[in-house]
Amino acid sequence: MRVSPEDAMERLKRGEVVALPTETVYGLAASIEHPHAIERIFELKKRPRDNPLILHSSSFETLLPYLHSPTFQIKPLTEAFWPGPLTLVLPAKTELLPPAVTAGLSTIAVRVPNHPLTRHILEKSGPLVAPSANLSGRPSATSQEHVEMDFGKEFPVVDGGSCSKGVESTILSWNEKEHRWQILRLGAISAEQLSLVLGEPPIFVQKSSSSAPLCPGTKYRHYSPVTPLKSGPPPLKVGVAIGFQERNYPFADQVLILGSLKDPQNVAQNLYSTLRQLDQLQVPEAWIDLDLPQMGLWTTLRERMVKATHP
Ligand code: TXA
Ligand code: MG
Repeated sequence: MRVSPEDAMERLKRGEVVALPTETVYGLAASIEHPHAIERIFELKKRPRDNPLILHSSSFETLLPYLHSPTFQIKPLTEAFWPGPLTLVLPAKTELLPPAVTAGLSTIAVRVPNHPLTRHILEKSGPLVAPSANLSGRPSATSQEHVEMDFGKEFPVVDGGSCSKGVESTILSWNEKEHRWQILRLGAISAEQLSLVLGEPPIFVQKSSSSAPLCPGTKYRHYSPVTPLKSGPPPLKVGVAIGFQERNYPFADQVLILGSLKDPQNVAQNLYSTLRQLDQLQVPEAWIDLDLPQMGLWTTLRERMVKATHP
């Protein structure tokens, strides 16, 4: 159900959960003043409790009360990428936050999103926690319709159109031992873009060697359609192939086009809606073309596509 930004602000103030658009994907937002609303987010999404939430705000300054002063430089990153699709994991004053937000970690993930409607709401509401607005494990929502698919027609959503980035924010944390930034989750900002600002490439952490994962969410299944999706060598025959406009897939009964191999940003915008569209076709099995360039945003896209496939 579409609600106006003003209605959304009222609902958030009353302790309700509302879906808001961001430039990456839609988020299920709740006020940090309402711990029961934060609990409701976990229930609605069927999200494991050990998976912490990102705190969103309208500016870096409004986040400062929740942060310990870091011993490392963050200004170059916030100046280059905020507002925008970068999330920083920073030392937190956890006593000021409902425990569910950080899931017992000593850090908080923070970001200043860049969508005009949500920036307007954040300026009035103060910081809001918001995971992606999808059922856990499913593709993230990049439109108001996607949110309604997962949470029902009556669920309040501020309609901000289709998300311009189409994939989640890139998550970074500081690696004290190596004295370098590390990527915890690939996202809308590529490693190459980060390198330009940092003056060196960030480390990419695929799996933590310690028992506590650095980015708890990455250990769970993600971005998956219900339809079994395979990759690898093209099959002899398949119900649906997901691929690119430059290529032919004669072995498929139907083809869903993600976009052009020359335009990864457009492919990112289409990825999650295509995975959702696949489920509507109700075929027994589908195949996705993973023969992609290995650079920039393509690295993120490949990671999301691999996670969408069934082992
Ligand atoms: O683009 C985005 O980041 C979207 C929009 C709505 O802002 N949000 C999003 O949230 O993707 P979510 O909850 O779907 O993913 C957040 C990820 C999870 O993998 C979680 O484990 C990780 O961030 N995370 C949150 N707090 C963390 C922390 N303190 N340390 C490490 N990872 C953290
Ligand atoms: Mg998510």
